[in-house]
Amino acid sequence: MTAIDELHERLEGLGLTAVDARLEALLEGAAKAEPAYADFLLDVVGAEADARRQRYLKTRLQLAHLPYVKTFEQFDFDFQPSLDERQIQELRTLRFVHEASNVIFLGPPGVGKTHLSVALAEAAIQAGFGAYFITAHDLIADLSKAIREGRLQRRMRIYLAPKVLIVDEMGYLPLDELGATIFFQLVSARYERGSIILTSNKSYADWGSIFSDPIIATAILDRLLHHSTTVNIRGESFRLKERRRAGLLSRPEEQREERPAVDAADAAGSLGKSKRSRR
Ligand SMILES: Nc1ncnc2c1ncn2[C@@H]1O[C@H](COP(=O)(O)OP(=O)(O)O)[C@@H](O)[C@H]1O
Ligand SMILES: [Mg+2]
Repeated sequence: MTAIDELHERLEGLGLTAVDARLEALLEGAAKAEPAYADFLLDVVGAEADARRQRYLKTRLQLAHLPYVKTFEQFDFDFQPSLDERQIQELRTLRFVHEASNVIFLGPPGVGKTHLSVALAEAAIQAGFGAYFITAHDLIADLSKAIREGRLQRRMRIYLAPKVLIVDEMGYLPLDELGATIFFQLVSARYERGSIILTSNKSYADWGSIFSDPIIATAILDRLLHHSTTVNIRGESFRLKERRRAGLLSRPEEQREERPAVDAADAAGSLGKSKRSRR
């Protein structure tokens, strides 16, 4: 058995698969460049460490259940002039994750709410945080089922554990009383512990109709918005632009913003008295 054969065997035994796979290349490179011993060792250890990090990130990404992977680099800010790019750059620092504060993207369909949420989640995962993506509808359906089966607390952990929880498409469908209560419980449990990134096509003033109860809507908004950034996107749908470019649509006014979203600061108040403001 040659030294190389034995090395392969040992590396495999130790689970150092990246070095195992690149052993010949690493040795050849070293023979050519004649690095210092320490530098060579650094290359070897670095190869394994990089591969581990990539595997770890891949697993984290899979666990996050993102509908697609999109990044900030793929986002065309020129197309969406209503968007404050500095606000997005600030979010990209992930300070909101460290502070367990929330991010709410409001706007009509197709303006990039999910894209930006996914990009933030991807950045958070790259930085070593856990993330989980779910639509509001699936979240409520899952937790309602858990209640019926008497295992709400256990199931709730899935949505409490990740540092970043993305709840997509809040407001497309109204929630019944049980759904509203469940969502309130989730928001309360994550409050000041982990970030929620939420997207909605409804302005805060319309949240009373999502939850079919203005009192619970106020209580939810109160906690959700206490530490939060609201990103209002008022613009044209990117999907429509692409279809129009393909000649499938003619009129630019084909799709209008459903209703302008209001500022976070006015939001809780616009639904009646905020709990916190009474303190
Ligand atoms: N400004 C943009 N630049 C690049 N792609 C965009 C932009 N806005 C939206 N998109 C793309 O258009 C599609 C719809 O965007 P999405 O984020 O799903 O919209 P919504 O606001 O309905 O969640 C996605 O494929 C997304 O990547
Ligand atoms: Mg979306």
